[in-house]
Amino acid sequence: MSDIKINETPVADEQAQPILTHEKSISQKIARGSEAGDILDQQMVMLGIQLVTQLNVLIKTSRIYERTNAALDKPVETMLTLIKTMAQDQPVTLRLQNDFLFLGDSHLKVNAQQMAVATSIIDALNAWKIGGITFSLTAESKDLREFAALFVGLDPENKALEDLQKEITARGIAGIELEEQRQLQLRKNFGTTRNTSPGTTDNKSPEGTGSTDPKAQRKMNAKNGYARVAGSVGALTQSSREGGTASFKQAKRAIQNIIDLMVDDEAAVLGLTTLRCHDQYTHNHSVNVSLLSIALANRVGYPKVELADLGLAALFHDMGKSTIPMEVLNKPGEFTDDDWVAMRNHPTEGVLSLSKMRGITNLPGRMAAASFEHHMNLDFSGYPKLTVPWTISLTGRILTIADCYDAMTSSRVYRREPMSPSKVLNMMLSKSGKSFDAVLLKLFVNCVGIVPIGSLVMLETNELAVVLKPATDKANAERPFVRVITDPQGNSVEHGREIDLTEKDEVGDFRDSIIRLIDNTEYKFDTSRYFV
Ligand SMILES: [Fe+2]
Ligand SMILES: [Fe+2]
Repeated sequence: MSDIKINETPVADEQAQPILTHEKSISQKIARGSEAGDILDQQMVMLGIQLVTQLNVLIKTSRIYERTNAALDKPVETMLTLIKTMAQDQPVTLRLQNDFLFLGDSHLKVNAQQMAVATSIIDALNAWKIGGITFSLTAESKDLREFAALFVGLDPENKALEDLQKEITARGIAGIELEEQRQLQLRKNFGTTRNTSPGTTDNKSPEGTGSTDPKAQRKMNAKNGYARVAGSVGALTQSSREGGTASFKQAKRAIQNIIDLMVDDEAAVLGLTTLRCHDQYTHNHSVNVSLLSIALANRVGYPKVELADLGLAALFHDMGKSTIPMEVLNKPGEFTDDDWVAMRNHPTEGVLSLSKMRGITNLPGRMAAASFEHHMNLDFSGYPKLTVPWTISLTGRILTIADCYDAMTSSRVYRREPMSPSKVLNMMLSKSGKSFDAVLLKLFVNCVGIVPIGSLVMLETNELAVVLKPATDKANAERPFVRVITDPQGNSVEHGREIDLTEKDEVGDFRDSIIRLIDNTEYKFDTSRYFV
C-alpha cells in the first residue's frame, strides 16, 4: 500500500467551543478590502462557525427537551448574542450549497474538530431541503425556541419545506427565514434519465463546450451510455415487479455500447460509478456493479463477447430484490428479522425471477451465478448457506468484489453510512483470500487505483483535488491523475487543472504530490460532479 494514511476525524466537543462575541457590530468602522477588513471577514467566519455550532446544540437539545426547558437557555442566549453581533448591519444568512456551508458568500471552512458539527447541521438542513437560514435582529428567545421545536417536531419525510415555512408564519416566529435549496440544473445531453448533478449550476463542460474535443466527446458518450443502461435496467426491473414481460435485447445493446466506450477510455466510464447518491439508486447500483465487473473481467482477459454476457449478468445480479416489497426496501431504520430473511433470500429469488422473464429461454449460467453467488463470499461466510459442495464461479467471484465495492461506497444499500473509496478498498484488502479472491482483488485495485477513482485528496500545495483515474505507471500507483477543485484556501475553483502526479520537473522531482487522503463522506462531499 502507499504511505498515505486515511484521515480520521475526531468527534467534536461542541459544548467546549469558546464563544467569540462583541457588544456591537464593528463592521461599520472598518473599510472593506483593507487589512482590517480582512480580519473582520475572518472574524465573521469564526462567528459563523460559532453560530453553526450553537444552532446544532439548539436542534439537538430541542429533540430531547420542551421549548421552555432550561436546557435550551444556553444555546438560545448564545445564538442571540451572535445574531446581535453579526446581523447589526444586515441579516445574517447561513447557506448550504453542494454540501458546503457558507456565511453569506464566505465559505465556512471547518477544521477536523468542527467537522462532526458541520456534518450534523448539513444533514439536518438537507433533510428539509433548506438552502439557507437567515437570522435578523428581530429574532428573540421565543422565536428561536419555537423554530427549533418545529424544526425537530415536524417530519421532513412527510412534510415539505413549504409546510415548515407556513407553520413558522402561522406561529408568528420573527427574525428567522428559510430558503429553498437552489434547483440543481439538469445537465444537458445526459440521456433521458432524471439524474441531476449536484455540481455547479453552470452548464459548461470542464473541457470547454465540447463536441469537437474528443475527450469531452468521449465523456459525453460515456454519460449517455450510462444513462441508457440505467434506463433499460429500470424498465426491466419495473416489468418484473409488475409481473410483465420484457426483452433483454435493449439492455444487451446498451451494455455492448458501454464496452466499446470502455475500450476507448476506461477511466471515463468508471468515473461514472462515483454517481452514488442519486434517487434512482437501485439502478445506479446495478449499472455501477456492471461497469466495475466489466472493467475487472477485461483485466482478467475476457474476450469481448463474454464481457457483454458478464455485464448483463451483473446488471441483474440483484433482480431478486424485486420480490422484496418496496416498503421493506425503502424502510427507514432497522430491518426486522423477517426483513432480513427476505433480504438474504434475494440471491435465490433472483434466479427464480430471472428464469421467469421472457427473453431468457435458457437462463444463461452466468446470469444465474451472478445472482446466486454474489453474497456467498469466497470462504462461504456469506449467504445463501449451502449443504452441498460448491465451487464459486469466476462470475460469482468478480461480482462479489464489484458488488461489495459499490455497496460499501454508497449510502443506500442496507442503510449503511457510505465509506470513502479508499477505506472500502483497505477493508476489502484486509479480507483478501478470505471473502475475496486475492488475484481478482489485486486486478480490481488496478482498475480503480490504489487511491481509488473519486477519492478526495489534499495536494502539497494545499489544494483539494479529486482522483480522475489511476496512474498509468504501476511503479507510481499512488500518483493518479487528479483534477484540482479548490484553491489553497479551500475556495472551490471551476474548471481546475488536471494533473498527472507522475510528472516531474526539470530537476527530476515530482511536480505535485498527495499529502493526504480526505474522507469525502465525512465532508459530505460528492465527488461525482467532477465526472458528470
Ligand atoms: Fe445483492
Ligand atoms: Fe448488489
